[in-house]
Amino acid sequence: MGIDVKAVLDRVEALGTIGRTEAGITRLAFTAEDREARALVIRWMNDLRLSVEVDAAGNIFGTWGDGTPPPILLGSHIDSVPEGGMYDGCLGVAAALEVVAACGREERHPRIPLAVVVFQMEESSRFGQAMFGSKVFAGRLTAAEVSEWRDHDGHTLGACLAENGADLAQLDGARYQRAPRAYLELHIEQGTILRDAAAAVGVVTGIAAPLRIRLAVIGEAAHSGAALPDQRKDALMAAARILSEVEDLVTRERSWGTVATVGFFRVHPNVVNVVPGKVEMGVDVRSVNVGSRQRLARAILQVVAKVSAERRLEVRASVVGDEMPIVLDAALTDGLETAARDEEVAYQRVVSLAAHDAMQVATIAPTAMLLVRNVSGTSHSSKEWISPDDVDAGCRVFHRAVRTLLTTAAAEHA
Ligand code: GLV
Ligand code: MN
Ligand code: MN
Repeated sequence: MGIDVKAVLDRVEALGTIGRTEAGITRLAFTAEDREARALVIRWMNDLRLSVEVDAAGNIFGTWGDGTPPPILLGSHIDSVPEGGMYDGCLGVAAALEVVAACGREERHPRIPLAVVVFQMEESSRFGQAMFGSKVFAGRLTAAEVSEWRDHDGHTLGACLAENGADLAQLDGARYQRAPRAYLELHIEQGTILRDAAAAVGVVTGIAAPLRIRLAVIGEAAHSGAALPDQRKDALMAAARILSEVEDLVTRERSWGTVATVGFFRVHPNVVNVVPGKVEMGVDVRSVNVGSRQRLARAILQVVAKVSAERRLEVRASVVGDEMPIVLDAALTDGLETAARDEEVAYQRVVSLAAHDAMQVATIAPTAMLLVRNVSGTSHSSKEWISPDDVDAGCRVFHRAVRTLLTTAAAEHA
């Protein structure tokens, strides 16, 4: 009875074999690897006799029980960043499946439906846009808004959806019909707070919000020998100035915990004998404090304007994915804390600086999140690692909280 931690770890490891390379796991959304992983999860849902539905965004739902009450929804994502770790997203999906399996072992017919969701394309690695599936589900992204989306290689989102059996024209139909009664997500911690606090799990009170700035520095390609220094419009030198200023600007907001990362950088034509004619950059700015984040974003845009004027070249800037930080549901959060105490698991209340699908679902339904200590202290990296004991502790807490919710919901529904 209770949680079978081996089943959770086996599923995480099975997903971790798909897209594995020497440098880590590469399973970007809408790729063959992603399709293989999704098919595996659907097989597990069928094995658990869940009723499976895939919506027009590619979100997969496996529901135990039916009837009229809105379901309690558990889930996460299974797409990865390039060369990522095994647990990001997958641990939450594997834990959700095991909680449903454990509840099924305890009770034949649920009085309140319990569903597992795999949200499509949580990671922004492919299109520079995060939490696609959960945003569509929450009614925060429409077909019209995504119709121009292209990945870094120029593929449209519409083509990706079509290749995966979905249809952009139907996308708006993936908006939730009935908001879930509650959404709970378990996730590996992506930093060091729990490790440093010697806590196995973290009860999340709020989630920081990312804002992205896309930059295109437009210089002029020229001969690397013949173009004289004062004739050049070198896009890479201009981009380098912007880069170093971003690092300085971040230090001014350090007391707010605000960070900025230039994680995407592409030079054209990127050969040794041509003065770079164009650079594309993606800046990711995050904070729990919107004021600090906006201040930093404004300062970055001012630096961009200054560099553009000084170097007499054009820099196109656009802000994408401007999210608001989220405060999670107090009652559900207290429920996770009580479950941690009852399971005698060391916990800590934490703010998540990483983004999660939970922040989208929180806009339509009471939502809570549980983080599990990451021994490596790092994520979006193949170093990510969790001890089996912590997986067990996290799943026990999650299971207990869900069971309590089911009991309360069933009593209210009786
Ligand atoms: C999700 O992984 C994020 O970018 O925070
Ligand atoms: Mn991630
Ligand atoms: Mn994740």
